[in-house]
Amino acid sequence: MNNAEMSTKMARVHRSDDDRNVFTSPGHFASSSEQVNDSGEQKVKRKSKLPKAPKRFRPELWGSASLSLTSVTSSLNRTSGLSSDNIRSEFVLRSNRDPPLNSDVEFNDNLRRAREAINAGVRPMLIRAGSSGSYFIRDASNTFLGVFKPKDEEPFAPLNPKWRKFFQRMLCFCCFGRACLIPNHGYLSETGASLIDERLCLNIVPKTRVIRLSSPAFFYGRCCGRAIEPYPKEGSYQIFVNGFKDAGAVLTEWANLGGPEAALTPEEYELFLIQFQKMVVLDYIIRNTDRHSSNWLIRYIPGKEIRLAAIDNGLAFPVQHPENTSRFRQFPFGWSSFSFAQQPWHEGLRNFLLQLLTPLFVHNLCLDIKNLFRHDSSTNRLLTYIQLRVLRGQLWNLRLALMANEPPSQLVKRPQILVRRRYSDLPASDDWDKCFRAKQVDFSSPGCC
Ligand SMILES: Nc1ncnc2c1ncn2[C@@H]1O[C@H](COP(=O)(O)OP(=O)(O)OP(=O)(O)O)[C@@H](O)[C@H]1O
Ligand SMILES: [Mg+2]
Repeated sequence: MNNAEMSTKMARVHRSDDDRNVFTSPGHFASSSEQVNDSGEQKVKRKSKLPKAPKRFRPELWGSASLSLTSVTSSLNRTSGLSSDNIRSEFVLRSNRDPPLNSDVEFNDNLRRAREAINAGVRPMLIRAGSSGSYFIRDASNTFLGVFKPKDEEPFAPLNPKWRKFFQRMLCFCCFGRACLIPNHGYLSETGASLIDERLCLNIVPKTRVIRLSSPAFFYGRCCGRAIEPYPKEGSYQIFVNGFKDAGAVLTEWANLGGPEAALTPEEYELFLIQFQKMVVLDYIIRNTDRHSSNWLIRYIPGKEIRLAAIDNGLAFPVQHPENTSRFRQFPFGWSSFSFAQQPWHEGLRNFLLQLLTPLFVHNLCLDIKNLFRHDSSTNRLLTYIQLRVLRGQLWNLRLALMANEPPSQLVKRPQILVRRRYSDLPASDDWDKCFRAKQVDFSSPGCC
């Protein structure tokens, strides 16, 4: 078997286990599958052979987390004997002619509808808010399907269509840029967040993949006074979630009713808190520098449903701890000042994560992220390596905080560290100290921007 065949085979093994995790894990986004039924009956029928996701998120499911934990670890163990280095990432869908590595029925169906709509002349809609060139992708009946963020329209990319960003880029990068992040890597960061979300069974990030789309609605610039012919742009595509509002607006509504404890039933409060803590886990691991209250959404139907969606994960996966890169700006986690952050961890979630976070799991997670980030051949490989040192450091701290049962408000106060591997191929032990070497970050000379 040659290398390419081996890669495809391994990716398939990985994939089929992922599907099981996705459909068996609680709290999975039904999002746009609700809308998919009309045109995608065939696919929906195929999907129905898989075990059904519970309609409502039941917190007691975390008590029996071993079920999903077993499937997560078995998928990792199965691939662990082989080096999955340099395998094409299943999170990158190169073109619609490529055989899809990603077998996610919901995502593929959504993307098929998006492509059909664009080919039929439905124009993506530029999102006015925000700093990047981001587009809502709609179908002919004006149903929103996804959010596409082309790489070359990111905040500091050459084809960013927002004038405000143009001036910031030209005049004052120090005050607005983030020196700890790789420029124009937002689309990989968005997708990486979705990868972490799926691997840790958090189910709070709407599915996101790297894809290519072309439409005259995107910004192509002009050459010699003439508009440039549209060509396929690479970027991140995230499934649109319906019926959600900005967290800031929802939290204000709850505050007006006397606070979340008064506005929500005890069961709703618990469901919300679990999802809030999952967002903490996600943001902490990816070291998100941009989780303000418009970058997470809440869908709340009193007495029926309460769900959280962590969107806009494009400013994460730094190469250095952000605190170490600027003397003028701080990048605190937006949620750390909320009262929810002082609540103790949900016991089921805590146990689940503690069992999951083995050196082997961390090793495989880092390989997956590396394979995704190396998709961008313009990125220096060393940068991916140092991104992973930060990522491992965050996982190291998270595990220690979970073991010590420190709530999120304490977790963020842990000293920043960088973690390297001690092993060469695979971690041979379950002992973190034997597998990894942690080093505290030196903050003595922060940069100026
Ligand atoms: N997956 C999604 N589902 C539903 N709505 C979304 C989704 N992604 C984005 N939105 C909506 O679009 C708005 C802008 O999206 P987003 O914050 O991702 O864009 P941005 O240009 O990166 O902005 P920023 O300046 O915050 O970085 C959000 O506030 C939200 O209302
Ligand atoms: Mg935003």
